[in-house]
Amino acid sequence: MIEKRRMKFSIYRYDPDRDAKPYMQDLEVELLPTDKMLLDALMRIKSGDDDSVSFRRSCREGVCGSDGMNINGKNGLACITNLLELEEPVVLKPLPGLPVIRDLIVDMTLFFKQYDSVKPYLINDTPPPERERLQTPEERDELNGLYECILCACCSTSCPSFWWNPDKFVGPAGLLQAYRFLADSRDLATSERLDNLEDPYRLFRCHSIMNCVDVCPKNLNPTRAIGKIKDLLVRRSV
Ligand code: SF4
Ligand code: SF4
Ligand code: FES
Repeated sequence: MIEKRRMKFSIYRYDPDRDAKPYMQDLEVELLPTDKMLLDALMRIKSGDDDSVSFRRSCREGVCGSDGMNINGKNGLACITNLLELEEPVVLKPLPGLPVIRDLIVDMTLFFKQYDSVKPYLINDTPPPERERLQTPEERDELNGLYECILCACCSTSCPSFWWNPDKFVGPAGLLQAYRFLADSRDLATSERLDNLEDPYRLFRCHSIMNCVDVCPKNLNPTRAIGKIKDLLVRRSV
């Protein structure tokens, strides 16, 4: 016999075409033993209790970054959040600080605009070598902890500075990527990149509160990267 268990959820609901304002929907869901992660429970809800609950997801293994949401008050990825670790009722809300499109789906336009603004790609106009631009193992090591970001936005949407100024402050995810290219020995746009960040808002709105570090599902440290950018700015001014 398949053992079943019930779990309580309280889910933020808002369909701008139907609802005058958002509300919380309480649900008690019957789970199967194969339902291990929060995303499994959401899929169970969608295929049974209420097929109108809306959320993004794709890879279901912490790689695509699409199912970021606020889970019992903390941002995280539903697909790698173990149901056994969650207190009930499990309160699910959209990532804070971005406009809600529907239910748990937010409009990521400002987040990606800020990401794009740091030119998150290698800039090097010298003629390419025959095979590839080589790095020493030490130079390559400098990129560890920077390149693994999956752009889930859990960090930027937990950052008070980003909530208040999403149009002006690059935010932790974008700044981590800015440093990823500043730290790359093959990139030749250091000066241009620093000019782009030397601004009271774009970089200096970070007050090192470290909410971003606390929530990153890939255990990255945007605060440290932001500190290193500040160091580079100080060093070039002396
Ligand atoms: S450390 Fe900076 S970027 Fe991270 S949450 Fe705090 S203010 Fe935001
Ligand atoms: S730094 Fe971490 S929390 Fe922020 S977008 Fe990248 S993976 Fe997500
Ligand atoms: S579904 Fe891809 S990270 Fe969760």
